[in-house]
Amino acid sequence: MRKINVFDTTLRDGEQSAGVNLNTLEKLEIAAQLERLGVDMIEAGFPASSKGDFESVKKIAETVKGSSVTGLSRTRQTDIDTAWEALKYAEEPRLHIFLATSPIHMTHKLKKTPEQVMEMAIEAVSHASRYFPHVQWSAEDATRSDWQFLVKIIEKVIDAGATVINLPDTVGYTTPDEYGRLFKFIKENVSNIHKVSLSGHCHDDLGMAVANSLAAIEAGADQIEGTINGIGERAGNASLEEIAVALRIRNDYFQTDTGLVLKEINRTSKLVSRLTGLSVPANKAVVGKNAFAHESGIHQDGVLKEKTTYEIITPELVGVASNSLVIGKHSGRHAFSNKVKELGFELTEAQVNEAFQTFKALTDKKKDVTDEDLFAILTEKRTEN
Ligand code: KIV
Ligand code: ZN
Repeated sequence: MRKINVFDTTLRDGEQSAGVNLNTLEKLEIAAQLERLGVDMIEAGFPASSKGDFESVKKIAETVKGSSVTGLSRTRQTDIDTAWEALKYAEEPRLHIFLATSPIHMTHKLKKTPEQVMEMAIEAVSHASRYFPHVQWSAEDATRSDWQFLVKIIEKVIDAGATVINLPDTVGYTTPDEYGRLFKFIKENVSNIHKVSLSGHCHDDLGMAVANSLAAIEAGADQIEGTINGIGERAGNASLEEIAVALRIRNDYFQTDTGLVLKEINRTSKLVSRLTGLSVPANKAVVGKNAFAHESGIHQDGVLKEKTTYEIITPELVGVASNSLVIGKHSGRHAFSNKVKELGFELTEAQVNEAFQTFKALTDKKKDVTDEDLFAILTEKRTEN
Protein backbone atom coordinates (compact mmCIF):
# COMPACT_ATOMS: atom_id res chain seq x y z
CA MET A 1 0.00 0.00 0.00
CA ARG A 2 1.24 3.48 -0.86
CA LYS A 3 2.52 5.34 2.23
CA ILE A 4 1.76 9.05 2.59
CA ASN A 5 4.36 10.97 4.60
CA VAL A 6 2.95 13.34 7.19
CA PHE A 7 4.55 16.75 7.61
CA ASP A 8 3.20 18.38 10.76
CA THR A 9 3.39 22.16 10.96
CA THR A 10 1.39 22.71 14.17
CA LEU A 11 4.42 24.39 15.75
CA ARG A 12 5.09 26.71 12.79
CA ASP A 13 2.01 27.42 10.61
CA GLY A 14 -0.24 26.40 13.52
CA GLU A 15 1.48 28.82 15.85
CA GLN A 16 0.75 31.55 13.29
CA SER A 17 -2.90 31.40 14.48
CA ALA A 18 -3.92 34.81 15.74
CA GLY A 19 -3.41 35.04 19.50
CA VAL A 20 -1.27 31.91 19.88
CA ASN A 21 2.17 32.04 21.45
CA LEU A 22 3.84 28.87 22.67
CA ASN A 23 6.97 28.88 24.81
CA THR A 24 9.84 26.42 24.36
CA LEU A 25 8.62 23.98 27.04
CA GLU A 26 5.14 23.91 25.55
CA LYS A 27 6.59 23.33 22.07
CA LEU A 28 8.73 20.49 23.40
CA GLU A 29 5.67 18.87 24.97
CA ILE A 30 3.74 19.07 21.70
CA ALA A 31 6.74 17.80 19.69
CA ALA A 32 7.06 14.75 21.98
CA GLN A 33 3.37 13.98 21.50
CA LEU A 34 3.66 14.42 17.70
CA GLU A 35 6.50 11.91 17.81
CA ARG A 36 4.21 9.46 19.65
CA LEU A 37 1.53 10.09 17.04
CA GLY A 38 4.10 9.00 14.48
CA VAL A 39 4.36 12.02 12.17
CA ASP A 40 7.26 11.75 9.72
CA MET A 41 8.32 15.40 9.91
CA ILE A 42 7.89 18.09 12.52
CA GLU A 43 8.23 21.69 11.37
CA ALA A 44 9.40 23.09 14.68
CA GLY A 45 9.46 26.79 13.78
CA PHE A 46 11.16 29.53 11.78
CA PRO A 47 14.65 29.84 13.34
CA ALA A 48 15.54 33.22 11.83
CA SER A 49 12.27 34.84 12.89
CA SER A 50 13.12 35.30 16.59
CA LYS A 51 15.52 34.22 19.32
CA GLY A 52 12.71 32.26 20.95
CA ASP A 53 11.92 30.37 17.76
CA PHE A 54 15.60 29.60 17.25
CA GLU A 55 15.86 28.14 20.77
CA SER A 56 12.71 26.06 20.41
CA VAL A 57 13.77 24.61 17.06
CA LYS A 58 17.23 23.81 18.45
CA LYS A 59 15.83 22.08 21.56
CA ILE A 60 13.35 20.07 19.52
CA ALA A 61 16.08 19.12 17.01
CA GLU A 62 18.26 17.89 19.89
CA THR A 63 15.45 15.97 21.60
CA VAL A 64 13.16 14.43 19.00
CA LYS A 65 14.50 11.25 17.43
CA GLY A 66 11.51 9.48 15.91
CA SER A 67 10.51 12.22 13.45
CA SER A 68 12.64 14.32 11.11
CA VAL A 69 12.84 17.91 12.42
CA THR A 70 12.64 20.84 10.03
CA GLY A 71 12.61 24.63 10.16
CA LEU A 72 11.27 27.28 7.81
CA SER A 73 13.53 29.69 5.94
CA ARG A 74 13.28 32.50 3.42
CA THR A 75 15.75 32.42 0.50
CA ARG A 76 18.24 34.68 2.34
CA GLN A 77 21.58 33.02 3.08
CA THR A 78 21.51 34.36 6.65
CA ASP A 79 18.14 32.63 7.23
CA ILE A 80 19.56 29.36 5.91
CA ASP A 81 22.74 29.62 8.00
CA THR A 82 20.75 30.43 11.13
CA ALA A 83 18.46 27.47 10.47
CA TRP A 84 21.48 25.18 10.13
CA GLU A 85 22.77 26.33 13.54
CA ALA A 86 19.41 25.40 15.06
CA LEU A 87 18.97 22.12 13.19
CA LYS A 88 22.45 20.65 12.82
CA TYR A 89 22.11 18.34 15.85
CA ALA A 90 18.90 16.77 14.57
CA GLU A 91 19.06 13.11 13.64
CA GLU A 92 17.76 13.94 10.17
CA PRO A 93 18.04 17.74 9.64
CA ARG A 94 15.77 19.19 7.03
CA LEU A 95 15.23 22.70 5.71
CA HIS A 96 12.05 24.18 4.30
CA ILE A 97 12.65 27.11 1.96
CA PHE A 98 9.71 29.02 0.54
CA LEU A 99 9.43 31.63 -2.19
CA ALA A 100 6.31 32.98 -3.85
CA THR A 101 5.69 32.15 -7.51
CA SER A 102 2.31 33.76 -8.23
CA PRO A 103 2.12 36.97 -10.28
CA ILE A 104 0.29 38.69 -7.38
CA HIS A 105 3.06 37.88 -4.89
CA MET A 106 6.00 38.39 -7.26
CA THR A 107 4.72 41.82 -8.39
CA HIS A 108 3.37 43.31 -5.17
CA LYS A 109 5.21 41.56 -2.35
CA LEU A 110 8.59 40.57 -3.76
CA LYS A 111 8.74 43.23 -6.49
CA LYS A 112 10.76 40.79 -8.61
CA THR A 113 10.47 39.42 -12.12
CA PRO A 114 9.87 35.68 -12.61
CA GLU A 115 13.51 35.37 -13.79
CA GLN A 116 14.78 36.98 -10.59
CA VAL A 117 12.54 34.71 -8.50
CA MET A 118 13.95 31.70 -10.35
CA GLU A 119 17.52 32.82 -9.58
CA MET A 120 16.73 33.42 -5.89
CA ALA A 121 15.20 29.95 -5.56
CA ILE A 122 18.12 28.21 -7.28
CA GLU A 123 20.72 30.04 -5.20
CA ALA A 124 18.94 29.35 -1.91
CA VAL A 125 18.40 25.65 -2.60
CA SER A 126 22.03 25.17 -3.77
CA HIS A 127 23.30 26.93 -0.65
CA ALA A 128 21.09 24.88 1.69
CA SER A 129 22.03 21.59 -0.02
CA ARG A 130 25.63 22.12 1.07
CA TYR A 131 24.59 21.46 4.68
CA PHE A 132 21.20 19.82 4.72
CA PRO A 133 20.63 16.25 3.51
CA HIS A 134 16.96 17.12 2.88
CA VAL A 135 15.79 20.42 1.38
CA GLN A 136 12.13 21.10 0.77
CA TRP A 137 11.24 23.95 -1.55
CA SER A 138 7.76 25.49 -1.49
CA ALA A 139 6.30 27.52 -4.35
CA GLU A 140 4.30 29.83 -2.12
CA ASP A 141 0.85 30.61 -3.58
CA ALA A 142 1.35 27.79 -6.09
CA THR A 143 -2.38 27.55 -6.75
CA ARG A 144 -2.48 31.11 -8.12
CA SER A 145 0.76 30.66 -10.09
CA ASP A 146 1.23 30.09 -13.80
CA TRP A 147 1.56 26.32 -14.29
CA GLN A 148 4.17 26.63 -17.05
CA PHE A 149 6.29 28.85 -14.80
CA LEU A 150 5.94 26.28 -12.00
CA VAL A 151 7.25 23.55 -14.32
CA LYS A 152 10.34 25.64 -15.21
CA ILE A 153 11.22 26.72 -11.67
CA ILE A 154 10.61 23.27 -10.17
CA GLU A 155 12.94 21.64 -12.71
CA LYS A 156 15.63 24.13 -11.76
CA VAL A 157 15.31 23.77 -7.99
CA ILE A 158 15.40 19.98 -8.31
CA ASP A 159 18.64 20.33 -10.27
CA ALA A 160 19.89 22.64 -7.51
CA GLY A 161 19.37 19.89 -4.91
CA ALA A 162 15.77 20.05 -3.61
CA THR A 163 14.52 16.70 -2.35
CA VAL A 164 10.88 17.67 -1.72
CA ILE A 165 8.70 20.01 -3.79
CA ASN A 166 5.68 21.49 -2.06
CA LEU A 167 2.74 23.11 -3.86
CA PRO A 168 0.99 25.18 -1.19
CA ASP A 169 -2.54 26.47 -1.52
CA THR A 170 -1.39 29.40 0.59
CA VAL A 171 -4.67 31.32 0.62
CA GLY A 172 -7.08 28.38 0.53
CA TYR A 173 -8.22 29.28 -2.98
CA THR A 174 -8.21 26.03 -4.92
CA THR A 175 -10.82 23.29 -5.29
CA PRO A 176 -10.31 19.51 -5.06
CA ASP A 177 -10.57 18.93 -8.81
CA GLU A 178 -8.27 21.84 -9.68
CA TYR A 179 -5.65 20.92 -7.05
CA GLY A 180 -5.64 17.31 -8.24
CA ARG A 181 -5.11 18.49 -11.81
CA LEU A 182 -2.19 20.70 -10.72
CA PHE A 183 -0.46 17.67 -9.14
CA LYS A 184 -1.02 15.57 -12.26
CA PHE A 185 0.26 18.38 -14.48
CA ILE A 186 3.45 18.79 -12.44
CA LYS A 187 4.03 15.03 -12.38
CA GLU A 188 3.54 14.78 -16.14
CA ASN A 189 5.50 17.88 -17.18
CA VAL A 190 8.46 18.26 -14.83
CA SER A 191 11.11 16.05 -16.40
CA ASN A 192 13.04 15.31 -13.19
CA ILE A 193 10.06 15.08 -10.79
CA HIS A 194 10.76 11.37 -10.17
CA LYS A 195 13.85 12.42 -8.17
CA VAL A 196 11.81 14.14 -5.42
CA SER A 197 8.77 13.76 -3.20
CA LEU A 198 5.77 15.91 -4.07
CA SER A 199 3.89 17.53 -1.21
CA GLY A 200 0.52 19.24 -0.64
CA HIS A 201 -0.13 22.04 1.86
CA CYS A 202 -3.66 23.43 2.14
CA HIS A 203 -5.37 26.28 3.95
CA ASP A 204 -9.03 26.35 4.87
CA ASP A 205 -10.27 29.78 3.75
CA LEU A 206 -13.06 28.24 1.67
CA GLY A 207 -13.48 25.23 3.95
CA MET A 208 -11.86 22.80 1.48
CA ALA A 209 -8.42 22.19 3.01
CA VAL A 210 -9.00 18.52 3.86
CA ALA A 211 -10.85 17.78 0.60
CA ASN A 212 -8.07 19.48 -1.37
CA SER A 213 -5.40 17.51 0.51
CA LEU A 214 -7.19 14.24 -0.24
CA ALA A 215 -7.44 15.25 -3.90
CA ALA A 216 -3.67 15.85 -3.96
CA ILE A 217 -3.13 12.39 -2.47
CA GLU A 218 -5.39 10.83 -5.09
CA ALA A 219 -3.42 12.66 -7.78
CA GLY A 220 -0.15 11.19 -6.55
CA ALA A 221 1.19 13.43 -3.74
CA ASP A 222 3.74 11.58 -1.59
CA GLN A 223 3.52 13.92 1.40
CA ILE A 224 0.77 15.91 3.06
CA GLU A 225 1.13 18.90 5.37
CA GLY A 226 -1.20 20.20 8.03
CA THR A 227 -1.78 20.83 11.70
CA ILE A 228 -3.52 19.21 14.63
CA ASN A 229 -7.09 20.52 15.01
CA GLY A 230 -6.52 22.44 11.75
CA ILE A 231 -5.11 25.45 13.57
CA GLY A 232 -3.15 28.02 11.58
CA GLU A 233 -3.02 31.33 9.77
CA ARG A 234 -6.53 32.86 9.19
CA ALA A 235 -9.05 29.98 8.85
CA GLY A 236 -6.27 27.49 9.53
CA ASN A 237 -4.54 24.59 7.80
CA ALA A 238 -5.78 21.16 6.79
CA SER A 239 -6.53 19.03 9.88
CA LEU A 240 -4.06 16.18 9.88
CA GLU A 241 -6.24 14.00 12.09
CA GLU A 242 -9.09 14.26 9.59
CA ILE A 243 -6.86 13.34 6.66
CA ALA A 244 -5.32 10.37 8.50
CA VAL A 245 -8.69 9.02 9.64
CA ALA A 246 -10.28 9.55 6.20
CA LEU A 247 -7.47 7.52 4.60
CA ARG A 248 -7.84 4.74 7.18
CA ILE A 249 -11.65 4.54 7.13
CA ARG A 250 -11.89 4.84 3.33
CA ASN A 251 -8.87 2.69 2.67
CA ASP A 252 -11.01 0.76 0.20
CA TYR A 253 -11.18 3.94 -1.88
CA PHE A 254 -7.83 5.71 -1.35
CA GLN A 255 -5.61 2.60 -0.99
CA THR A 256 -3.08 4.67 0.95
CA ASP A 257 -2.26 5.23 4.58
CA THR A 258 -0.24 7.65 6.70
CA GLY A 259 0.86 5.01 9.21
CA LEU A 260 -0.03 7.38 12.08
CA VAL A 261 -0.78 5.86 15.50
CA LEU A 262 -4.42 6.92 15.36
CA LYS A 263 -5.17 6.09 19.01
CA GLU A 264 -2.92 9.05 19.94
CA ILE A 265 -5.17 11.51 18.08
CA ASN A 266 -7.49 12.40 20.95
CA ARG A 267 -4.60 13.02 23.35
CA THR A 268 -2.72 15.11 20.77
CA SER A 269 -5.79 17.20 19.98
CA LYS A 270 -6.48 17.88 23.67
CA LEU A 271 -2.85 18.83 24.34
CA VAL A 272 -2.70 21.24 21.40
CA SER A 273 -6.01 22.80 22.40
CA ARG A 274 -4.94 23.23 26.03
CA LEU A 275 -1.53 24.74 25.24
CA THR A 276 -2.65 27.02 22.41
CA GLY A 277 -5.87 28.07 24.15
CA LEU A 278 -7.78 27.36 20.92
CA SER A 279 -10.87 25.34 21.74
CA VAL A 280 -12.07 22.66 19.37
CA PRO A 281 -15.62 23.19 18.04
CA ALA A 282 -17.99 20.53 19.43
CA ASN A 283 -19.00 19.38 15.95
CA LYS A 284 -15.46 19.13 14.53
CA ALA A 285 -14.85 15.86 12.70
CA VAL A 286 -12.84 13.22 14.62
CA VAL A 287 -11.84 15.41 17.60
CA GLY A 288 -14.96 17.44 18.48
CA LYS A 289 -16.81 16.70 21.73
CA ASN A 290 -19.86 15.59 19.72
CA ALA A 291 -17.99 13.54 17.12
CA PHE A 292 -19.14 10.32 18.83
CA ALA A 293 -22.30 11.60 20.55
CA HIS A 294 -25.73 10.47 19.39
CA GLU A 295 -28.79 12.51 20.33
CA SER A 296 -31.74 11.57 18.20
CA GLY A 297 -33.95 8.70 19.30
CA ILE A 298 -33.75 6.92 15.95
CA HIS A 299 -29.94 7.12 15.92
CA GLN A 300 -29.63 6.05 19.57
CA ASP A 301 -31.91 3.08 18.96
CA GLY A 302 -29.84 2.11 15.92
CA VAL A 303 -26.52 2.41 17.75
CA LEU A 304 -27.82 0.39 20.70
CA LYS A 305 -28.81 -2.39 18.31
CA GLU A 306 -25.69 -2.23 16.12
CA LYS A 307 -23.03 0.51 16.35
CA THR A 308 -22.21 0.56 12.65
CA THR A 309 -25.69 1.84 11.83
CA TYR A 310 -24.60 5.39 12.63
CA GLU A 311 -20.87 5.13 13.48
CA ILE A 312 -18.32 4.91 10.70
CA ILE A 313 -15.38 5.58 13.05
CA THR A 314 -15.08 3.69 16.31
CA PRO A 315 -14.20 6.12 19.13
CA GLU A 316 -11.50 3.70 20.31
CA LEU A 317 -9.70 4.07 16.96
CA VAL A 318 -8.78 7.67 17.80
CA GLY A 319 -8.28 7.15 21.54
CA VAL A 320 -11.74 8.09 22.80
CA ALA A 321 -12.98 5.65 25.46
CA SER A 322 -16.51 5.22 24.13
CA ASN A 323 -19.34 6.85 22.29
CA SER A 324 -22.02 8.70 24.24
CA LEU A 325 -25.75 8.70 23.97
CA VAL A 326 -26.82 12.19 24.91
CA ILE A 327 -30.14 12.21 26.67
CA GLY A 328 -31.99 15.22 25.27
CA LYS A 329 -35.03 16.49 23.44
CA HIS A 330 -34.65 14.07 20.53
CA SER A 331 -33.86 10.95 22.54
CA GLY A 332 -36.10 7.93 22.40
CA ARG A 333 -37.39 5.52 25.01
CA HIS A 334 -34.71 2.90 24.30
CA ALA A 335 -31.80 5.22 25.18
CA PHE A 336 -33.75 6.65 28.11
CA SER A 337 -34.30 3.25 29.69
CA ASN A 338 -30.59 2.47 29.22
CA LYS A 339 -29.77 5.71 31.03
CA VAL A 340 -32.14 4.75 33.87
CA LYS A 341 -30.12 1.58 34.40
CA GLU A 342 -26.81 3.46 34.06
CA LEU A 343 -27.91 5.81 36.85
CA GLY A 344 -28.58 2.78 39.08
CA PHE A 345 -32.41 2.77 39.09
CA GLU A 346 -34.47 -0.39 38.93
CA LEU A 347 -37.91 0.71 37.80
CA THR A 348 -40.86 -1.18 36.41
CA GLU A 349 -41.75 -0.65 32.79
CA ALA A 350 -44.70 1.50 33.81
CA GLN A 351 -42.46 3.65 36.02
CA VAL A 352 -39.94 4.09 33.15
CA ASN A 353 -42.77 5.12 30.82
CA GLU A 354 -44.06 7.71 33.26
CA ALA A 355 -40.56 9.04 33.94
CA PHE A 356 -39.98 9.26 30.19
CA GLN A 357 -43.10 11.44 29.78
CA THR A 358 -41.96 13.77 32.59
CA PHE A 359 -38.50 13.92 31.05
CA LYS A 360 -39.88 14.77 27.58
CA ALA A 361 -42.00 17.57 29.05
CA LEU A 362 -38.91 18.96 30.75
CA THR A 363 -36.85 18.93 27.52
CA ASP A 364 -39.38 21.32 25.97
CA LYS A 365 -38.72 23.81 28.76
CA LYS A 366 -35.03 23.29 29.49
CA LYS A 367 -32.21 23.34 26.94
CA ASP A 368 -29.79 21.16 28.84
CA VAL A 369 -31.32 18.33 30.88
CA THR A 370 -28.60 17.16 33.24
CA ASP A 371 -28.02 13.88 35.06
CA GLU A 372 -29.15 15.71 38.23
CA ASP A 373 -32.52 16.49 36.57
CA LEU A 374 -32.89 12.86 35.56
CA PHE A 375 -31.95 11.75 39.03
CA ALA A 376 -34.68 13.94 40.52
CA ILE A 377 -37.33 12.64 38.07
CA LEU A 378 -36.38 9.00 38.65
CA THR A 379 -36.23 9.33 42.42
CA GLU A 380 -39.71 10.82 42.39
CA LYS A 381 -41.07 7.97 40.26
CA ARG A 382 -39.47 5.39 42.52
CA THR A 383 -41.00 6.87 45.67
CA GLU A 384 -44.42 7.63 44.10
CA ASN A 385 -45.30 3.96 43.57
O1 KIV B 1 0.91 28.39 3.23
C1 KIV B 1 2.07 28.52 2.82
O2 KIV B 1 2.33 28.87 1.66
C2 KIV B 1 3.14 28.27 3.76
C3 KIV B 1 4.52 28.23 3.19
C4 KIV B 1 5.50 28.81 4.09
C5 KIV B 1 4.82 26.84 2.79
O3 KIV B 1 2.90 28.01 4.91
ZN1 ZN C 1 0.78 27.54 5.17
